[in-house]
Amino acid sequence: MEIAGTIKTATEREKLYRKYKHLIKTDQKLDRTLVSFQANKQEALYRWFKYKEGFSKRLVKYFINKYHPKVGHILDPFAGAGSTLFAAKELGWDATGIEILPVGIFAMQARLASEKVDGKEFAKTIKEVWRKFDINKTPMNKLKNIPITKGAYPGENEKLLNLYLEHCNNISNADIKTLFKFAAFSILEEISYTRKDGQYLRWDYRANRSWGKTKFNKGKIYSFQEAIEKKLNQIKQDLNPVVNLELFSNNKQNWNKEPSLNILEGSSLEMLPKLETNSFDFIMTSPPYCNRYDYTRTYALELVFLGYDDEAVKNLRQTMLSCTVENKEKYATLRSTYHNLNKLPDFEKIASVYNSCGAMQEVNYQLQKLNHSGLLNNSNIPRMVKNYFLEMAFIIFEMHRILKPNGSVVMVNDNVRYGGEEIPVDLILSDFAESFGLTIEKIWTLPVGKGNSSQQMGNHGRTELRKCVYVWRKIAG
Ligand SMILES: C[S@@+](CC[C@H](N)C(=O)[O-])C[C@H]1O[C@@H](n2cnc3c(N)ncnc32)[C@H](O)[C@@H]1O
Repeated sequence: MEIAGTIKTATEREKLYRKYKHLIKTDQKLDRTLVSFQANKQEALYRWFKYKEGFSKRLVKYFINKYHPKVGHILDPFAGAGSTLFAAKELGWDATGIEILPVGIFAMQARLASEKVDGKEFAKTIKEVWRKFDINKTPMNKLKNIPITKGAYPGENEKLLNLYLEHCNNISNADIKTLFKFAAFSILEEISYTRKDGQYLRWDYRANRSWGKTKFNKGKIYSFQEAIEKKLNQIKQDLNPVVNLELFSNNKQNWNKEPSLNILEGSSLEMLPKLETNSFDFIMTSPPYCNRYDYTRTYALELVFLGYDDEAVKNLRQTMLSCTVENKEKYATLRSTYHNLNKLPDFEKIASVYNSCGAMQEVNYQLQKLNHSGLLNNSNIPRMVKNYFLEMAFIIFEMHRILKPNGSVVMVNDNVRYGGEEIPVDLILSDFAESFGLTIEKIWTLPVGKGNSSQQMGNHGRTELRKCVYVWRKIAG
């Protein structure tokens, strides 16, 4: 898709800032302890596997209570490990989530399985598995590593992991089997040379493949037995509701019926257009940020564990929402999705909203200019940014369509900066939302250290980037 526009300054972004300035407010309650995954660390499952991109269940409850206390049907089109879905279910909501990364899907399936497993039965299975476990055996099947995971495990760890998985296959109770596999899945980082660090997967120098300038030492690398025993015991403890009522906060209330929890596996870009119009009361979500973060590299060990080969990992990367420099344009695929659903007018409308957003054109233009001057540290950044917003325009259009009148969207996202150029993700996405008929109620910002961001949108010094929670409402009628 061609980018229109020849704007040379930050004028369009400043215009947008002035338009929404009165709605940008700091909520002092939105500190790290409420928003981030860290707040979940006392929760069962969340402490079994750390899905660091997740947000806290308390945050979900905070916004549901604030904006839609009346129970209904909630959607999270980027469900991750399911914070939205499980928190809302605890409040009695029916919940639907869409997720493309099998890592999040497996975490949600394990969570569902855990609700059906009896702690005593689980403890009995641990004993049985260890009784039969013979570390001198050679596993029949092996994980099929891909180039970016080769040599990830020291010593006997990989062999023992393979042996353990063979034992798991003999467990007859499907839910217990899922939890046993999930236990191994949750320790892959601990028993490997790798660590999920900020933007990428770091390798310990002991793996002899450390390419960085600095020698990275991740500290203790656990043996498979040590790590798996610890994990299984943790799960056992959390499954025992008498001992751990507080941790396992599946606080069922007096519902007329058990709320449903529905996980749809695949891309929201494909699935949202197929959902019924006016069918959800509330959407709470956090899409990938426009920050080059590559989920498929960070979770490479977990993807291999789940049977993904090199080709499948690359395909997955391309189908995820564009947020890495490797993502290629999905314009033609999106067009054919809408064409097949007889929804080409929607497609044209979305593309036109994208093209008529002045701030979007300005960002695209500025990034291309920086690129031509060699001022971006990767030449694909303009493509990534352009496609991120285009794809988000499709997501926002669909969110508006499937929300019931008076329903709200609550979206967590961060602003970004490339080559010194600030990209006001909050303002551009809100502008799209407004064009599709949503009312912008609030752009909540997280409190920051040195005062909030200023009006400067272009390359005029380094201002603090806003971390936001947007609240949009579908107007009735
Ligand atoms: C910021 S995380 C959301 C985490 C979630 N709020 C939680 O608490 O676990 C964004 C999620 O979007 C998912 N994702 C990326 N592209 C997607 C797509 N096209 N369709 C559905 N999910 C996608 C990623 O796999 C990731 O889990």
